[in-house]
Amino acid sequence: MGVYALISRNFNNNKMSGIYREVSNLAPKVKIDSNNNVTESDGCGENENLNRNVKLLKSLNIQKTNQKNYNLSEKSIRVENDNLNSEWNIDSSEFAKSTCNPVRKLIEQMKIEPNPELQMIALSIGDPTVFSDIAKPDSVIKAIQKCIDDKKFDGYTPSYGTEAARQAVARYYSRPDNLIYKFNDIILTNGCSQAIDLCITVLANRGDNIIIPKPGFSIYKTLAGTLGINVKYYSLLEENNWEIDLEELESQIDDRTKAIIVNNPSNPCGSVYSRMHLLDIINLAERYRLPIIADEVYGDMVFPGNEFYYMSELTRNVPILSCNALSKRFILPGWRFGWVAIHDPKNYLARVRAGFNDLTTRILGPNSLVQASVVEILDNTPQSYFDSIMETLATNAEIVYEKLQTLPGIVPRKPSGAMYLMVGLDMKCFPDIPTDVEFVQMLIKEKSVFCLPAKIFECPNYIRIVITMKKEKIIEACNRIEEFVLAHYKPNS
Ligand SMILES: Cc1ncc(COP(=O)(O)O)c(C=O)c1O
Repeated sequence: MGVYALISRNFNNNKMSGIYREVSNLAPKVKIDSNNNVTESDGCGENENLNRNVKLLKSLNIQKTNQKNYNLSEKSIRVENDNLNSEWNIDSSEFAKSTCNPVRKLIEQMKIEPNPELQMIALSIGDPTVFSDIAKPDSVIKAIQKCIDDKKFDGYTPSYGTEAARQAVARYYSRPDNLIYKFNDIILTNGCSQAIDLCITVLANRGDNIIIPKPGFSIYKTLAGTLGINVKYYSLLEENNWEIDLEELESQIDDRTKAIIVNNPSNPCGSVYSRMHLLDIINLAERYRLPIIADEVYGDMVFPGNEFYYMSELTRNVPILSCNALSKRFILPGWRFGWVAIHDPKNYLARVRAGFNDLTTRILGPNSLVQASVVEILDNTPQSYFDSIMETLATNAEIVYEKLQTLPGIVPRKPSGAMYLMVGLDMKCFPDIPTDVEFVQMLIKEKSVFCLPAKIFECPNYIRIVITMKKEKIIEACNRIEEFVLAHYKPNS
């Protein structure tokens, strides 16, 4: 009889800790028989992954320790197996088994062995609290502190959130001239991921489809996949500043399409759409009577000279479900506070609103202390805080872009917002490196610089660089990337 265990990554080397934050909640499950042999892995519910994971684990030399843990000593990966009792055959559900995060899948395949001589620089983590030197404003700390001291916010809240917090989000979103939200247009969630999850769940049934960007954030596919909802892709055109290929988007729509997801500003591209382009997308959605799920978690995070528009500002006809959070702009991803803002002036979504209400009874609302503090945070965080974040990011983007564009065989793409920069790789110029995945792997091994292969975002032969690091680190990372590129660049071989 088998038992299930979680593999948690536990790097002994301090330099490595934190690298896996982006995937740390994505521990793969494996089946271990009574002789401690790996017999099965849920992987992503696919045989291919199952076999790969089994091979991977076997190759990692599992050793049993006194604490009944299993050290995958060669790679410093530990299998937590405490107190597992194999007498009851308790399996994980089909729902869990069908959940697959492509980031996890790919990272597992990669051999991550940094150069021991060099301190690791992780440009891979989309967590703006890590490594950046931007201090939180006092008002944020005081706001949560006060809510703790008040002792009034320890109980349950309504499942869609308190009226006060929803009012605060509605105020934050409204524009005096053309966009007014009311508190009952706002549903509070645990981060933007859960907001997106609710939107997909409320709109589509098993066998329906949603249309998502490529390159794009991988969670859309993960969330839809678990629910048996298909994803279809539209391309973002690099040559047009990563604007949406509208023809392709249109060609993907069929009678089972339930929504279009638009992510602006974009992860991973760092692009920001013009008003005109957003209007084109909205017009297309209107023609096909499709709601838009607008992932605007990087809303307002644009570099000087660029302008950000919420999609809801631009239409009174197309229902827009705007998903957002404190995670990025307020640099509070760990607080897990997000929301869906329902923009639906024509009231097409009355039944969907009821569906949202029902679905929130599964989540019972975000943390009540955070809900209480959000009123002060959304109303009174000084603009200077946001400005200093965007200045830092714009400076870092400039440093990385200026340096990398001098290098042969790689083409950085200048971002206009968010916190990422994409770099195209001309793989013909690197004959000893087969793909972006090996490029990333070898860069870690030789130079201890960790970027993400954009294959994760359905965009092979690019890497994504996170630009939230301190300036000195960014410069050091760029210098190491330069050494790496020059060592492997062989254009005519
Ligand atoms: C485009 C995009 N949407 C949503 C999220 C999820 O945000 P949250 O941490 O608030 O769940 C992320 C996080 O990196 C993201 O990049």
